[in-house]
Amino acid sequence: MRTRPMPRVGHEVSEIGLGCWQIGGGWGTVTDDQARQLLHVALDAGVTFLDTADVYGDGRSERLVGSVVAERGDHDRVLVATKAGRRADPHVPEAYHAESLRGWVTRSLDNLGVERIDLLQLHCPPTPVYDDDTVYDALDALVGEGLLAAYGVSVETCDEALTAIARPHVASVQIIVNAFRQKPLEQVLPAAAAAGVAVIARVPLASGLLSGRYDLDTTFAADDHRTFNRHGDAFDVGETFAGVPFEVGVQAAGEVAQLAGDDLPPARLALRWLLDQPEVTTVIPGARSKDQVAGNVAASATPPLGADTHRRLQAIYDTHVRGHVHHRW
Ligand SMILES: NC(=O)c1ccc[n+]([C@@H]2O[C@H](COP(=O)([O-])OP(=O)(O)OC[C@H]3O[C@@H](n4cnc5c(N)ncnc54)[C@H](OP(=O)(O)O)[C@@H]3O)[C@@H](O)[C@H]2O)c1
Repeated sequence: MRTRPMPRVGHEVSEIGLGCWQIGGGWGTVTDDQARQLLHVALDAGVTFLDTADVYGDGRSERLVGSVVAERGDHDRVLVATKAGRRADPHVPEAYHAESLRGWVTRSLDNLGVERIDLLQLHCPPTPVYDDDTVYDALDALVGEGLLAAYGVSVETCDEALTAIARPHVASVQIIVNAFRQKPLEQVLPAAAAAGVAVIARVPLASGLLSGRYDLDTTFAADDHRTFNRHGDAFDVGETFAGVPFEVGVQAAGEVAQLAGDDLPPARLALRWLLDQPEVTTVIPGARSKDQVAGNVAASATPPLGADTHRRLQAIYDTHVRGHVHHRW
């Protein structure tokens, strides 16, 4: 597994990480045993970056991640990133103040079973929060007290990312970027690289669309966001299938699968496309089986895609997807 630096965190991390939303909930049933197995397989395979959040299963994901990392004695080797903010109800800019941040951090420390959080990310806060000096002051204070090693942001839009990157102590930006979400390549990735801000590429498979396994008859469990948030009823629609209408995504993913051919699984092609972007620090696919984890890790050892493959992926994006997502996020 290759690693890449997170300059402002002062760590190298595996270029393929593991997204841990599904370990909390929101993706149908994943039992504790399955969740622990996914974590062990990933860590055994060299993954050293785990992404979770306080709201994934209301702390379940954090607790599972914390306990597996602790029982393996992996604290020094593995960087655990969590997120805060989404517990606020209502989720308004005023909810982000020093006291609430301290409360969320305290709870995450407890869930993770650690004395210091490696990387705390604001969890897609309302847009005005990115311009609020008091929020950054509060985060700096938590770093000063040793409760956080570093902090970053998870954003919805490119504009939010650019605002955050301009802040001197923001160490990372987590953003949806994948073969069906190419706008971050224009400004966000270069700006982050220039500032030494790590880029965490989330939803890299467009919620599984880019695996090429779904067709128009595919259904998902009732408690899977690909059912209940398909039209943005629960949270930003961009988090489900990267905001690409399902039917459009199925057709475009079919073309990606053709391009991948018989030798390369389309999911691996999609992850390799991201790894071919030098500004991306780590890619965090979610996975619901051991085989998926192993397949995703294998992207690191897969040779870079050729220029022609990059051009054809761009053409698929331009033809089918761009009109649905490029102007929105
Ligand atoms: N606001 C935020 O900050 C935010 C929002 C969303 C996600 N995230 C983070 O980003 C992580 C990743 O995003 P995501 O899980 O939403 O989407 P994703 O990684 O694009 O998609 C995950 C899905 O892709 C499929 N998949 C994974 N590996 C595969 C493989 N090797 N072959 C075939 N199919 C494969 C699985 O679908 P099936 O279930 O159909 O098998 C899996 O459930 C999350 O776990 C979370 O940590 C953060």
